[in-house]
Amino acid sequence: MEVLEAIETRRSIRRYQPDPVSHDLLVKILEAGRWAPSASNSQPWSFVVFTDPEVKRRITRCFLYGWFLDEAPVGIVVSVDPGLSSCPIQDGSLAVQNMMLAAHALDLGTCWINPGLNDEEVKVILNIPREQRLICALSLGYPAETPSKLRKRLGDIAFSGRWGDSILPAK
Ligand SMILES: Cc1cc2nc3c(=O)[nH]c(=O)nc-3n(C[C@H](O)[C@H](O)[C@H](O)COP(=O)(O)O)c2cc1C
Repeated sequence: MEVLEAIETRRSIRRYQPDPVSHDLLVKILEAGRWAPSASNSQPWSFVVFTDPEVKRRITRCFLYGWFLDEAPVGIVVSVDPGLSSCPIQDGSLAVQNMMLAAHALDLGTCWINPGLNDEEVKVILNIPREQRLICALSLGYPAETPSKLRKRLGDIAFSGRWGDSILPAK
């Protein structure tokens, strides 16, 4: 799949088929994360993959809006070391975006699940060092839904020369 097509057609997937994700595909997705840009090439990220149903169940309870995580065959917690980068959140987020696009290009679905409810418990369960900052959990698997989403119009958010002058010609 071409990059621009992947960007436009990726959607957050919250319903998954039970089929497992092969190790080869998983490695391809993690590699896409590894090749993300980062401030001063600091690469502050780590990716912890988990598939064990009991671990998924316990991790799912640590996220407020991630009820579907334990139905996905794979979960990935992405964290960053804030001591390694001047922009750890941006770095980690770019790695996640790369992984979401790579997964989509491989016919897999993902959803970003925001942390914040019980990050310390996530770290204990997955043996993540306390100083790490969680970026998100990613659910991963073959989609069992084809959701659609709208976006704001380009002419309302992209300007030419000065704020407010739309980049697109008036209709
Ligand atoms: C920073 C961030 C936090 C998000 N948190 C959650 C979340 O906790 N649970 C969830 O189901 N989706 C979450 N999402 C997914 C968004 O709801 C989704 O990207 C948005 O509705 C646009 O839909 P699309 O990804 O299908 O285009 C998050 C996305 C981002 C970028």
